[in-house]
This record gives sequence, C-alpha cells and structure tokens, in this order.
Amino acid sequence: MPEIVVGRDEEDLRKYGSEGTIYIGKHLVGTGEESHLTTPVLLDVLRPHIICLTGKRGAGKSFSLGVFVEEIHKLPEKVRNNLCCLIIDTQGIFWTMKSPNEKELVLLKDWGMKPQGFPVNVYVPEGQESIFSSAGVEYDSTFSLHPSEFSAEDWLNVFGLAANETLGILLQRAFKKLKGKFGIDDIISTVKSQEGFGTEKLSLENYFEAAKLWGIFGDSKMPEVLEPGKLTVIDVSLTPQNVRALLVSLVCEKVLEERILARRQEELAEIELSSLKRIPMPWILIDEAHNFLPSEGSTAATEVLNRIVKEGRQPGVTLVLATQRPEKLHPDALAQCDLIVSHQLTAKSDIDALRSIMQTYMLYDIGKYISELPKLKGVAIILDDNSERIYKVRMRTRQSWHAGASPVAV
Ligand SMILES: Nc1ncnc2c1ncn2[C@@H]1O[C@H](COP(=O)(O)OP(=O)(O)OP(=O)(O)O)[C@@H](O)[C@H]1O
Ligand SMILES: [Mg+2]
Repeated sequence: MPEIVVGRDEEDLRKYGSEGTIYIGKHLVGTGEESHLTTPVLLDVLRPHIICLTGKRGAGKSFSLGVFVEEIHKLPEKVRNNLCCLIIDTQGIFWTMKSPNEKELVLLKDWGMKPQGFPVNVYVPEGQESIFSSAGVEYDSTFSLHPSEFSAEDWLNVFGLAANETLGILLQRAFKKLKGKFGIDDIISTVKSQEGFGTEKLSLENYFEAAKLWGIFGDSKMPEVLEPGKLTVIDVSLTPQNVRALLVSLVCEKVLEERILARRQEELAEIELSSLKRIPMPWILIDEAHNFLPSEGSTAATEVLNRIVKEGRQPGVTLVLATQRPEKLHPDALAQCDLIVSHQLTAKSDIDALRSIMQTYMLYDIGKYISELPKLKGVAIILDDNSERIYKVRMRTRQSWHAGASPVAV
C-alpha cells in the first residue's frame, strides 16, 4: 500500500523513501460520518521540525504527543539511537506510558497493534518526591536546582517583579553582593542587610520564603536528556507556572548548547548518521505550550524557545508545541512551523491563526477541512509545509496507558 510521508520534502523522499519515519495514523478520505481510513500516514524523523499540535479541549493533543514518543522508541536501533525525547509534562500524565493500554485492546487490534508499556524516564522535583510517591506515581529519579543557578533576572521573572520597582531594585542590589554558591537563606540575609529599605525587605523575604516551598531546590541535579534513544519526562505538574517556565528555560538551554557543540564536532568529524557515538538529536515536546511561549508578554522560557524556533534546525532540535489555542502561541513560533497537526478546533480566531501562517494553503479552505472531520477522537488535519499539502487523518491509538482521559461523574 502506498504511504503518505509528511514532514519530508521531495528530495529526501527520493533519497530515503519511508526510512526514518514514524507511523502516526491513517489518511481519512470522504467527509463527516462517511469518512473511511485508507493509507498509513508516516512522519519524518530524520530532519528537525517545528510542529504545532493543536485542537480544542479533549481533542487528542496529549494523546498524539504520546504517539510520537512511542513511535520514536519503536524505530530501528540505528535511527533511534540518534534521537531522544524530552517531554515537558504539565499535567502529570506521561508517567503512565510505562504501562500497556489494556483498556483499548479492541481499538488497537484494528491498528494491528498490541498494548505495550514504554521505558519513559520520569523525573520529579526533589522536594516534591513525597507527594508523588504518596500519589502512587511511578517516577525514576528526581531533579533539583541550586538557588545560585538563578540570576537576579530569573528571580524577578518568577516573582513577577519589575526591575525598576522598589522590590526589584532591592533584589538586584542584594544580588550584587552575593558570590559563589549561595542558598535561599543567604539571599534573605543579604536582603536584610541592605541599607535604605523599610518594609520592602520583609516583603521580599516573604517571596523567598515562599520559594522554598516550591520543592525544586536542592543540590543542582538536572536530568541527562541527550542520551541515545532516551525518553525523558519532566513532571512539572505540581510546580507553579512561572517556575515551570524557568525550569523549561534552564533544561532547554542546556540541551540546545550541548547540541550546538555536538553539531560542530560532527561537522568537523563528518560523522555519518549511522554512527552510534553521536549525541542524539532531541525532540522537545511541550504540552500546553502557549503558557511557555505566549503570543502576548513573555515567560522565562520565551527566549530559549524562540531561539530553538529560529536556530534549532542547524543543531537538529525538534520542537513539538501542543496547545488548545494556536492564536495564543507566539506568532514567530507559529510562522516557523513546518507541520501543523490540528485536531478539532472551533474558535474562528484559532482557525484564522492557522490560515494566516500557512499562506501556501490559501487554495484550500482550512476551516472547511476541519468541519469535514468526522466526530471521532483523534481525527485531525495535517498541514505539511514540506510538501505543501493538506491531509485529513486519524491519529493511531496509543499502545501505552494515557492518563489524560476526562473523569465521569457517575
Ligand atoms: N487517536 C485517538 N484514538 C482514540 N482515542 C483518542 C485518540 N486521541 C484522543 N483520544 C481520546 O480522547 C481523550 C482526550 O485526549 P487528550 O487527553 O489527548 O486531549 P487533549 O487534546 O490533550 O485535551 P486537553 O486540552 O484538555 O489537554 C483521550 O483520553 C482518549 O481517550
Ligand atoms: Mg492535553
């Protein structure tokens, strides 16, 4: 059966055929309830991509993120070892990928697949360990940051303070005095020792006291993401949003810098794709990405994510941004997407956002394509900038357990 390969241009298609692709779903032909599934749809993983995964609540975004990760793990070793995944889990739903999806045995059979667990490496913040264990979450390791790894700007950012307000000025003054490795208590005592501030010292002290409760501080211990074939899940579900953004920025910066360095070495040594020594090319998958890379304002993660969007191709970093609201995602990120997987969307402004970035699709009415999708979970349209084509698809069922299902009241 002929296959559809998305995310691959004609030249690569001639060169590689369907090698180095993952099986994400099947082509949907026909409209509405008359639709039927035809050819397999494969996604290129040999090249870096910027993928926007969108759709309204419960349409299948997180589920599809999991499909990408499962498929990357199932690749032949020589390809898999050149890749790795980093999932930013904002809802605490990816640890269940360790277990097989027994409840969808029948659906899986239709896809010629069996339930299967996947070896995701789940990291939770060190100071939140007891909460995760008492909730029965199967995590593998913890991560932590040392308070001295945060710059004055980082603290301003997570506290939501402006640099020119009194508290901001106090914080920056205190930081000028801090050297080497210092803890939160050192920061507090330096704040207290500043001259010329009144009650502001107490207010700022309270901010830092509250930060101790985030549960992310300890001796600096960040996950090793760039290991061949490794599937890393960073669970930030219990971490406040501003702090999540800072964590994402620190992890992504490290990953990007390491890959930039590795790329330089690869170019020097002209290492072939089959070489096992290569530092793998990461797929960074971010759920609820508009909270990290919003269209208005910025977060601690905005800068590094925009850098990946603009410069990530050369070092081979793929970004998958899942969001309910494409309109709320940074316009630069949307504009650079080479692939959009859009599950059901209803807001006109969101459909317009997709339309406006994919100028090449002016010939197609994206809104019409979306409205033609049958009322089934996991259906989507794919806009592929590499082939300048648009497809209706049904994403395949997950082999691993998906924890994101809606609860029922009875
Ligand atoms: N491809 C699919 N095949 C079968 N069922 C699916 C598929 N995609 C999604 N579903 C079903 O839809 C439910 C909701 O999907 P998911 O959790 O991915 O939604 P979401 O788009 O991430 O929603 P939210 O924006 O609320 O996070 C899943 O629990 C699953 O049962
Ligand atoms: Mg979701």
